Amino acid sequence: MRSLSPLLILLSTPTVHSWGELGHRTVGYLAEKYLTTDATAMVTELLVNDKGYDISDAALWADSVKRRTGYTHTRVWHYIDAEDDPPTQCGIKYNRDCKPKKGCIVSAIVNMTSRISSPKLDSTQHKEALMFLIHFLGDIHQPLHTEALDRGGNDIHACFDSHCSKKENLHSIWDTQILHKSRGLPASESDDKVLKDAAQTWATELFEASSLRVWNWDTVAECKDLKKAEDCALKWAGESNKLVCGYVLERGVEWIEQNDLGGEYFEGAVPVVDEMVSKAGLRLGTWLNEIAGARRRVGLLREQERMEM
Ligand SMILES: *[C@@H]1O[C@H](CO)[C@@H](O)[C@H](O)[C@H]1NC(C)=O
Repeated sequence: MRSLSPLLILLSTPTVHSWGELGHRTVGYLAEKYLTTDATAMVTELLVNDKGYDISDAALWADSVKRRTGYTHTRVWHYIDAEDDPPTQCGIKYNRDCKPKKGCIVSAIVNMTSRISSPKLDSTQHKEALMFLIHFLGDIHQPLHTEALDRGGNDIHACFDSHCSKKENLHSIWDTQILHKSRGLPASESDDKVLKDAAQTWATELFEASSLRVWNWDTVAECKDLKKAEDCALKWAGESNKLVCGYVLERGVEWIEQNDLGGEYFEGAVPVVDEMVSKAGLRLGTWLNEIAGARRRVGLLREQERMEM
């Protein structure tokens, strides 16, 4: 087999703009552990039976379509650009930061939450709404998805473990490098099977840690009124945004550009990432349980699928 030319490899390397594959798969697998029978039936009906996807495959779909014809308008749904001033001052203002016509991750969560239990939409639309939600509840827990500065850190050049190529930037380091290193994977690991296994293991560890009540889990899962989707999504985004000042950009852009982030900065980032991935998984699981309840009430959950469980 001819090896790919370096140019082709470069062209086929996707620019990452969200938790990388490992983060999204882990959020999916973790959420799965919290699902009720009804929610499991919904995931099985819409994703597994129909697309042959497990929940972690579904978590990647929104990134895979955002440059595709008919989906380019969904790109801005992966984040909210808080026009604040880190590290001095953080904060989201919905009217200022969510673009009125285009939307943002908060309005997208509201939209998809209502679409997935709307009897007026067909099963393909329900399936897409579900896949968007699984992805967005992950992204909203990535601090840099709630920050406008330097395009969410994409324009902040940084080094990680002596990797200082043009590709490395603060955003991609938080999407991928920190997660891979903390799970013992090479930065360049891209094998689906390897990443799926690593995500399963990580999700199991985080699930077990949650039963030790490392964080206040009741508070984490308390936002679950689907009618208050906007309030909930804003609360989640606000927590992430707080971490932009609290850790991610705490030392200022200049420090970040002048230091290798693979050392002490990485050590401090690991508990932040563990916490945010844990919260994302629990909140996604809780949200899907509520949605399954809503679908049952409007007759969208079919008895037949329940029997198969
Ligand atoms: C909701 O999602 C649908 C389907 O992707 C889209 O066509 C519509 O513009 C969205 N509405 C809002 C208000 O974002």
